[in-house]
Amino acid sequence: MCQLSLRPLRLSDEADARAAHAEFAGEGFDFLLELRAGEPWAIYVRRLDGIHRGGDVPPDRVPATFLVAEVDGTLVGRVSIRHELNDFLANFGGHIGYGVRPAYRGRGHARAMVRQALVVARRAGVGRVLLTCDDGNEASASIIERAGGVLEDIRVAPDGIGKRRYWIG
Ligand SMILES: CC(C)(COP(=O)(O)OP(=O)(O)OC[C@H]1O[C@@H](n2cnc3c(N)ncnc32)[C@H](O)[C@@H]1OP(=O)(O)O)[C@@H](O)C(=O)NCCC(=O)NCCS
Repeated sequence: MCQLSLRPLRLSDEADARAAHAEFAGEGFDFLLELRAGEPWAIYVRRLDGIHRGGDVPPDRVPATFLVAEVDGTLVGRVSIRHELNDFLANFGGHIGYGVRPAYRGRGHARAMVRQALVVARRAGVGRVLLTCDDGNEASASIIERAGGVLEDIRVAPDGIGKRRYWIG
């Protein structure tokens, strides 16, 4: 069985990460969070690091750790671990966002990513972890429930989609 590891985005990831980003087009999910059109890769990677350290966080965002998931030298997915919740995250987004590239789904990668992301969240000082998923996203609901998530409620987001809100810890 291949080992999955989470690590920060690197300068050398540009081609693979941009390809992954394109693969999510149409799924309503950004592989590369906050990516600005035309922004040079090195600037983007530095900006993500600033958001992680908390020194360069836009007013409607919170400090967050962005990590890619690697298996055998290939990027298979990514996670974003929010260190705190703003209003939107408390209602709909939760502490951890994750996605697996279409070609690598159904192999347990998301489960492994969430398991490791929970450790990162704890290290960042998050006590109880809020995880959310679209009502009807059975794969994601199963991942969260298997990780110990306890359903609190379902809240309808501004886009009209119901978000299942689970707490762990
Ligand atoms: C949701 C997503 C992360 C799942 O990734 P994945 O690597 O395929 O998930 P895993 O292989 O770890 O599977 C986890 C569970 O989902 C189940 N599953 C996978 N695909 C499924 C599907 N299409 N329907 C129902 N269950 C599914 C698996 O059987 C497994 O359940 P089990 O542990 O009870 O057997 C992936 O489909 C994705 O990136 N989707 C787009 C972005 C997204 O929805 N992110 C989640 C935001 S909350």
